[in-house]
Amino acid sequence: MDAVNGLMSFIDRVPTAFHAVDEIAASLDAAGYARLQETDRWPIAPGGRYYVTRNQSSLIAFRLPASGVGHFQIVASHGDSPSFKLKPAFARTGEGCALLNVEKYGGMLMSTWMDRPLSVAGRLIVDGPGGLRARLVNVDRDLALIPNLPIHFNRDANDGVALNAQVDMLPVVGMEGVDFAAAVAAAARVEPDRVVGADLFLYNRQRAVRFGVDGAFIAAPRLDDLECVYASLTAFLGAKGGAHTDVMCVLDNEEVGSGTRQGAASPFLIETLRRVTAALDGNPQALEAALAASFMVSADNAHAAHPNHPDKYDKDNRVRMNGGVVIKSNASQKYATDGLSAAAFEHVCISAGVPVQRFSNRSDIAGGSTLGNIALTRVSMPAVDIGLAQLAMHSACETAGAQDIGHMVRAMEAFYNAEIAVKADGAIEIR
Ligand code: CO
Repeated sequence: MDAVNGLMSFIDRVPTAFHAVDEIAASLDAAGYARLQETDRWPIAPGGRYYVTRNQSSLIAFRLPASGVGHFQIVASHGDSPSFKLKPAFARTGEGCALLNVEKYGGMLMSTWMDRPLSVAGRLIVDGPGGLRARLVNVDRDLALIPNLPIHFNRDANDGVALNAQVDMLPVVGMEGVDFAAAVAAAARVEPDRVVGADLFLYNRQRAVRFGVDGAFIAAPRLDDLECVYASLTAFLGAKGGAHTDVMCVLDNEEVGSGTRQGAASPFLIETLRRVTAALDGNPQALEAALAASFMVSADNAHAAHPNHPDKYDKDNRVRMNGGVVIKSNASQKYATDGLSAAAFEHVCISAGVPVQRFSNRSDIAGGSTLGNIALTRVSMPAVDIGLAQLAMHSACETAGAQDIGHMVRAMEAFYNAEIAVKADGAIEIR
């Protein structure tokens, strides 16, 4: 399958961060990677291939060189996307309809979630013989819809509508009396009375499509950041490995600030890398020495210049769809990029024949943030923030360039295949 079709089918199968980790784990299993448990002591060996998950929603995979550990070359992206999460007491009724009481997860464009078929996915907590166990669920059918107010009751709607998440964003799921909980339990093949908890999210039912006169674009939910997740998985599995340890991180909770037990601000990455070095090198300074020689790529999508709103972007530091991999910079270090790391990654891309673009926000528009600089407060190494140019970030349906997914896969594969040696004096040598 080519990268475009592979990406579109991946997005269709991945409604939540839980499902992202489940899909990636299945791909790693098929490629012969061994699953490690955080509760065990890890029996890892040089040349081995492993992965570990936390909370079923974050995953770190690594591939060791035959020589030991070397340094780490890390690609990190995020598996979560803005959505609405069901509250603990989610059943609501109104005007004869059954509704779901939900709250925002992340900063979405709320209006884009209205008047389109939605469904529910996440995990159910099931009480059974082995204790309380989480089971993934995806109610894979059109199940819910958040109806707009007609323009007749809001004549100024086209001048802008202030939406209130507590009032405007509750989806209808049937007529009053319908048993929503039983429908979700049935989709998970669980008896409803054994379900004792849940982490359930709404998701857009629209499938990923290619559009345009010559198919220049992909429109899909969750392109931020499943596009970089899919690219990093494809590149990680396709790379041949070198004298360093290749690491792929897909982390949860970027959309709510990363400050969770499995997010980029958590100890998940540093604990994983410490266990790798401790298992293969008994020296108590092995981790710090390896980290000092390592390099991280933080991959999260970027803002393509909007053709209807060109003034929102810096005239000299704007990027376009289908223009290649974007290197993002910000003086306040919302992006981890600096002059040295940008030059190093640009060198990797150019050597691989991948086009590169440079992005910086207008000085009077804050723009966004991502996970790279947050991860670096725990795991310190040179790092670059990259992404692919897309429109309508955090809409329920986003748009990206169809050529770019191939660009990103090739860039990340070249990154893993290169030997990026960070020297004692800070110099970076790329072989
Ligand atoms: Co993102």
